[in-house]
Amino acid sequence: MANKKGITRRALLSGTAISIVPASSIAQSIGDESPSWMKTPGSSFNEYGFPSSQEKNTKREIFQPYEEYAPGSGVAMTPLEKLEGIITPNGLHFERSHNGVPNIDARQHELLIHGLVKNPLVFKMEDLLKYPMETKTYFIECGGNSFYNSNAFPIAIDRTCGSIHGLMSTSEWTGIPLKNILREAGVNKEALWLLAEGADSAAMSRSIPLEKALDDTLIALYQNGERIRPEQGYPMRLVVPGWEGNISIKWLRRIKLTKKPTYTKDETSKYSDLLANGKTLQFTFPMEVKSVITQPTAGPIPLKKGPIHITGLAWSGLGKIKKVEVSTDKGKTWKTADIDGANQPLSPVRFRFNWIWNGEECSIESRATDSKNNIQPQRKEWSIKYGLGHLYHNNSIQIWRITPDGKVFNEYDDLAQNEKWSEE
Ligand code: CO
Repeated sequence: MANKKGITRRALLSGTAISIVPASSIAQSIGDESPSWMKTPGSSFNEYGFPSSQEKNTKREIFQPYEEYAPGSGVAMTPLEKLEGIITPNGLHFERSHNGVPNIDARQHELLIHGLVKNPLVFKMEDLLKYPMETKTYFIECGGNSFYNSNAFPIAIDRTCGSIHGLMSTSEWTGIPLKNILREAGVNKEALWLLAEGADSAAMSRSIPLEKALDDTLIALYQNGERIRPEQGYPMRLVVPGWEGNISIKWLRRIKLTKKPTYTKDETSKYSDLLANGKTLQFTFPMEVKSVITQPTAGPIPLKKGPIHITGLAWSGLGKIKKVEVSTDKGKTWKTADIDGANQPLSPVRFRFNWIWNGEECSIESRATDSKNNIQPQRKEWSIKYGLGHLYHNNSIQIWRITPDGKVFNEYDDLAQNEKWSEE
């Protein structure tokens, strides 16, 4: 299928494109010029493996807005542009902490179930590990993900995909359905909400409707097959699938059944949504349908004209992904992308779209539709609903502008809006 000039268009579009390997490098692979690592024994075994030292730039980007007096408050963002598939390696799962990662002794740690229950219960880890468990693949997205493209940043700034959208990660979570523990405690009829509290020094706490707790909420003990990492909530966390990540309380220590929401500091001072009309929405839980192209995106290596494999992630906190479309002409026309593998509710899909770039200035963008027919909005459509500085629940379309020299930039769709904000 390939010719000496490179990849044929037909080969690319049929997915069978191969690259040309110069004959000189084939000789090196099989002949006397074997590489040094074929001439000496390899290194010995590791008790716990690490990535190749050459991949040390595949790392989270850390943002500590109060570095001097609260270094544990901030985020570490998943480098989405460096990853493939849908699962995030445990060491690269995003982190959001309000006062650092507690150093919890799992043997002393307890989970208390109390409030409007017939039998208040206290669990040690050894008790919980005996319960029947289930495994599910769910994304967790911080309510403040994509804040660099929110109303807090009226001008599009030049950042990588992960450093804009990397407060979304996906794991295979294993744990105990919360409904089984609540059933054992015996929830009283008047209980409609619960308070979940973490054992960190911010005592992170949120109110959760009982209905969600009895549906698909997990007390997760394992992440991608191993015990949850300290920064992800060791020894246990809630996973409240599809809902803003802050509710998936890490370092879980207490669940209290209540009649009404508790109105904790973490759901009044934060995680509420200022509208353009001056009103504020509270308890906006699901993360709405969203997608982002993870490659190609802004980065140090310029694109070359010719075949480009566009890929990215799409997800919805309201169900499955129905379709992902890609536009390469500033949103004038849209084409359906291919989706990899199984499509599970509240789990991202990986999408792919083969494209040939003609070397001219253009932009690429993706748009997801979920199983409830929600369509990902344009940024200007999203932005105008909310007040100045609002940053939560930003599910708007990411545009990557490509200049003729192959550089890729973050771009907003409404330049007039940019100017309006900057005058205020
Ligand atoms: Co919300």
